[in-house]
Amino acid sequence: MALLVTPLNNVGVEVSGFDIGKPISDAVKAELKDLWYEHGILLFRNQDITPEKQIEFSRIFGPLELHPLKATTSEANPELFVLENGSDKDKFFTASYHGEEIVGRLDWHIDLHYTGRPNHGALLRAVELPSSDGLTGFGDLVKAYEALDEPTKELLDKIEIAYSFSMQRKHMRYVDLDGYEPGPFSPKKPSDMNYPDFSDAVYPGAVTHPVTGAKVLGVVEQFLDRVVTPQKAGISNDESIELLERLVAHTRKPEFHYFHEWREGDMVLWDNWRAMHCATGTKPGVRRVINRTTIEGGVTLGRTL
Ligand SMILES: [Fe+2]
Repeated sequence: MALLVTPLNNVGVEVSGFDIGKPISDAVKAELKDLWYEHGILLFRNQDITPEKQIEFSRIFGPLELHPLKATTSEANPELFVLENGSDKDKFFTASYHGEEIVGRLDWHIDLHYTGRPNHGALLRAVELPSSDGLTGFGDLVKAYEALDEPTKELLDKIEIAYSFSMQRKHMRYVDLDGYEPGPFSPKKPSDMNYPDFSDAVYPGAVTHPVTGAKVLGVVEQFLDRVVTPQKAGISNDESIELLERLVAHTRKPEFHYFHEWREGDMVLWDNWRAMHCATGTKPGVRRVINRTTIEGGVTLGRTL
């Protein structure tokens, strides 16, 4: 059985030619894992999948992580995390963008970036969907790195970049705040959402992928705070801010992105050590359910301060 691999727009591939309902041979499992490392973002469509099958399938890519917030995990399947829009919790995730109320919009990010130990990846499966709304974007930071000029790559090898966790989007230094207003229930501090507080996490300017050895651009806009002691790399603080602004603009180029428009039964798997992701959010009251499984990060990529 050969897997069928079709490129998506710009980055990532769709993989078909296997049936998740049937036993998957070790050879196909190895092929799936290789594709994950080769492309970073995999889409599977039209698979007849139950929560149990999703968990089993996800284990091909590594041990699974239980989500730290118990409230949102499924009782029967603790490895499954249910992402739900359209419930009474929406108000905490509602904000205004140019006068429009949006639920669950998320800037480009890497999961658990702020801990220094991002998980290895995650698999999302659409369970219930609005007609259109709520795209998930994926951005390939290996391709973004490769497209940089040599002097920038050399500079990235000399610097470290700090990420600062914060609950208030308006405090994030490099996200696009134009037209943004927090909602009346937007959390103000980590304890408002039962989150622990996190000290800063620091990464190399170019992170080496622990498995493939590829260089991954270490700049992602959410929680991005500063270059640590830029003077050691021969640049001033002002130059380091301009560098981050330039690199954030670089990561926003559409040629590094794939935006997934969900259909029921779709599954998307990404490598969180290589790809950033974002969510465009939904209109208030729109119901949307996504089941998520998370592949554990067995490696610490950054360090905490
Ligand atoms: Fe995320």
